[in-house]
Amino acid sequence: MLASAVRSLSSAVVRQVRSIHKTAPVLSDKLFVHRDTPENNPDVPFEFTPENMKIAQSIIKDFPEGHQAAACIPLLDLAQRQHGWCPISVMHYVADMLSMPRMRVYEVATFYTMFNREPVGKHFIQICTTTPCMLGGVGSDVILEAIKTKLGIEVGETTKDNMFTLAEVECLGACVNAPMVQINDDYYEDLTVDDMNSILDDLIAGKKPKAGPRSGQNHRFACEPKGGLTSLKGTPTGPGFGVRSDL
Ligand code: FES
Repeated sequence: MLASAVRSLSSAVVRQVRSIHKTAPVLSDKLFVHRDTPENNPDVPFEFTPENMKIAQSIIKDFPEGHQAAACIPLLDLAQRQHGWCPISVMHYVADMLSMPRMRVYEVATFYTMFNREPVGKHFIQICTTTPCMLGGVGSDVILEAIKTKLGIEVGETTKDNMFTLAEVECLGACVNAPMVQINDDYYEDLTVDDMNSILDDLIAGKKPKAGPRSGQNHRFACEPKGGLTSLKGTPTGPGFGVRSDL
């Protein structure tokens, strides 16, 4: 009796790609301790291009005298955009530029997973597998399998031609359009397997797929109901709109 109850319970369990206790062991989450490698060591040359140096200086000027350390995150981001990822020599460069202890920059770069402390491919795919994306639409596990099959890589790997890197991440704040992936700076939402394959086909062909939701014939604009608005359909009133007749 008990055995058959357990059997029927286990057959009802939905298969989950990632076990609950395991954070994706990839990229920035991989190791908080730096170990010198041939591609990631303090001697890897880095300096801002003249163009980026101007941007960096204008970012630093945004902060009051004595508080330049506040520019640490935007400068690391700018450096990562230039270099493609964030080796320790980039962290040292930013620390020197902001007169900060290097340890303070290490703390920032290891805390925020947006900083890639290992090289990534030209197209960095981050798939959200947090619960709403796992349950939404076709489910992120199905999309994840489609990406792996199409590109022939596992989570944490880069294709041999350095075109794609795949990472599994936590909520990216687009849950209402689940499932979704972020590729470099763009979000692709309301995905089906066909959508995902066509996005990857476009990238492989050197085209830029249109970012945003993929639902419906014309794709919704943002996160409005798929069937059209059900509220807030009238002309806005109140401060700034000046249509109130009772005043
Ligand atoms: S759960 Fe996937 S974006 Fe929030």
